[in-house]
Amino acid sequence: MKKIAVFPGDGIGKEVIREAVEVLKIIDKKYGLSLEFEEALVGGSAYYEYKTPLPESSLKLAKESDAVLLGAVGGPKWDGLDYSVRPERALLGLRSELGLFANLRPAVVYSSLVNASTLKKGIVEGVDIMVVRELTGDVYFGKPRGIEKLPDGNERGINTMVYTTHEIERIARVAFDVARKRGKKLTSVDKANVLECTELWRKVVTKVHKNYPDVELNHMYVDNCSMQLIRYPKQFDVIVTTNLFGDILSDEAAMLTGSIGMLPSASLGSRLSSSGSPIGMYEPIHGSAPDIAEKDIANPIATILSASMMLKYSLNSEKASSDIDNAVLNILNKGYRTKDIHEDGKKLVGTKEMGRLIREAIEK
Ligand code: IPM
Ligand code: MG
Repeated sequence: MKKIAVFPGDGIGKEVIREAVEVLKIIDKKYGLSLEFEEALVGGSAYYEYKTPLPESSLKLAKESDAVLLGAVGGPKWDGLDYSVRPERALLGLRSELGLFANLRPAVVYSSLVNASTLKKGIVEGVDIMVVRELTGDVYFGKPRGIEKLPDGNERGINTMVYTTHEIERIARVAFDVARKRGKKLTSVDKANVLECTELWRKVVTKVHKNYPDVELNHMYVDNCSMQLIRYPKQFDVIVTTNLFGDILSDEAAMLTGSIGMLPSASLGSRLSSSGSPIGMYEPIHGSAPDIAEKDIANPIATILSASMMLKYSLNSEKASSDIDNAVLNILNKGYRTKDIHEDGKKLVGTKEMGRLIREAIEK
């Protein structure tokens, strides 16, 4: 039995999770994985009930599960709340409490979708990048942090960019391992010309490289990387970077593909389940998009592909995972599109219909 914690979260999270869970149920039937799903609240919807975005009971469920599948959290309704109870804190809390320091965000341009990108076809065609984002360090968690009052009446906002050798080493190893299984090319992104913290980053990544002579390593400053991503994205295979830079660059990489509604992610740590596979959290990289919630127009593909990553990384079912990937490809090739990736001459479908079509393709 494999236990999966399901956290729909807020906004379109609920709609896209529903489709992904239904996909997993079909997969379970087909491959006999004996998956067990347990749903709980996180984010703004949890705040409604428990006055905290990450209730103890939800965290406990996550800790007891082989994997977590999460929709999205947040929305303008909760923007006025104190930082400590904002929906986003649920994500950060889960990441740190579960020790999920490695975030894998693939940006793959499907040939059937090259026209969906805002960039020219020749630039994005064939793009296949894996962003490995460090997820439990940096300014996101560094201390001191906060807003303090100064005697002269001014206020001072503080966040601290901080990385230890150990934190850099472990994410570098993940990135080199990933690169080794792909195009064997790793770009480490930093701001070592200005920030000491990433001067250390560069030094440690260079040291870890000694154990991976078969992987080509290059270093790039983050400003240049953001430019190179839209100038010539095909130069990248695997990118490894800090938490904040990774947050920004992964959104940029996502847009190469045409829609952020297409991109899944996996967050992994060093904890293993009883079956020896890494316990992970899987979520689309898009947000809760409250403006389009409950309209049946959200693209469920990013979440369905996140479920596929879950099968691959945490549930040891590579075959079931490619079954989902192929079904998605198949449906896109047949011309079905949700609104975010729709173009003239294609068949416009809603969230539910897209989910149903993908399940039907898996069952065939
Ligand atoms: C992401 C999101 C989160 C982050 C927010 C919602 C806290 O943007 O997963 O990329 O900044 O990590
Ligand atoms: Mg982000």
